[in-house]
Amino acid sequence: MPSIVTAKDLTKKFADLVAVDSISFEIKEGECFGFLGPNGAGKTTTIRMIHCVSPKTSGELKVAGLDAGVDNREIKMLLGVIPQELNLDEDLTTYENLVLFAEFFGINRQEAQKRVLELLEFVELKNKMNNRIEELSTGMKRRLQIARALINQPKLIIADEPTTGLDPQARHLIWQRLRELKRRGVSMVLTTQYMEEAEQLCDEIVIMHQGKIIRQGMPSELIEEEFGGEMIEVKDSKDRVYRRPATLEDVFLKLTGRQIIE
Ligand SMILES: Nc1ncnc2c1ncn2[C@@H]1O[C@H](COP(=O)(O)OP(=O)(O)O)[C@@H](O)[C@H]1O
Ligand SMILES: [Mg+2]
Repeated sequence: MPSIVTAKDLTKKFADLVAVDSISFEIKEGECFGFLGPNGAGKTTTIRMIHCVSPKTSGELKVAGLDAGVDNREIKMLLGVIPQELNLDEDLTTYENLVLFAEFFGINRQEAQKRVLELLEFVELKNKMNNRIEELSTGMKRRLQIARALINQPKLIIADEPTTGLDPQARHLIWQRLRELKRRGVSMVLTTQYMEEAEQLCDEIVIMHQGKIIRQGMPSELIEEEFGGEMIEVKDSKDRVYRRPATLEDVFLKLTGRQIIE
């Protein structure tokens, strides 16, 4: 498979702070590639360099063969971005938000209307098309952001913590939609703090910590590498010890520490 994103010694500094510290990775077409890491690990900064809203400090970064930092406009046309923060236009309806975005991409009105209706169907928001944003739940807003990210039929979708703050039902619905996109062959970059999300969606993951990539592989490979076939000893609420197979979460905690990182 050809690669859709390649980074070599990619670095981002904010004054004295090295937010992304000389990382290298390669994302294959059709793959879902996950960036995992605690708060402040550098996930969003990495993703913002990929979608060309934040220039790299040094290193190489190519998206679909184009140079990030040089061919930014061309790159943006190929990408669909689901940002970490909810940034829909609150004064508009669900439908209007999507049409407005289609205009940004220069999609003609007739084609835009067709795509918007298809996308509303896809994210199960057709019955909310004339509602204002404030009338939507957080899960619905996230789904609308997914629809918005698809308006230009992107080759690569970038989702920054797409399910943070959602209840389990809303989260599962988002996973289902993202998996459907994967089935259609769309490449995906995902950041998450939820190990289960990475296990459900990602073919390949990197674990970031303090701006560096500290591990890379398939979720099952990482578990095997850190724990082999060994069972983990854990305590239940009554302090009874029991044993269970290791999970990706165990790997994550072992590598990034158990203390809370603000
Ligand atoms: N615009 C900015 N200016 C200064 N520091 C920033 C900026 N954006 C992010 N940082 C810092 O860079 C580090 C990585 O942040 P970020 O990429 O947002 O982490 P993550 O998404 O993994 O939680 C953090 O220490 C954060 O405070
Ligand atoms: Mg982030």
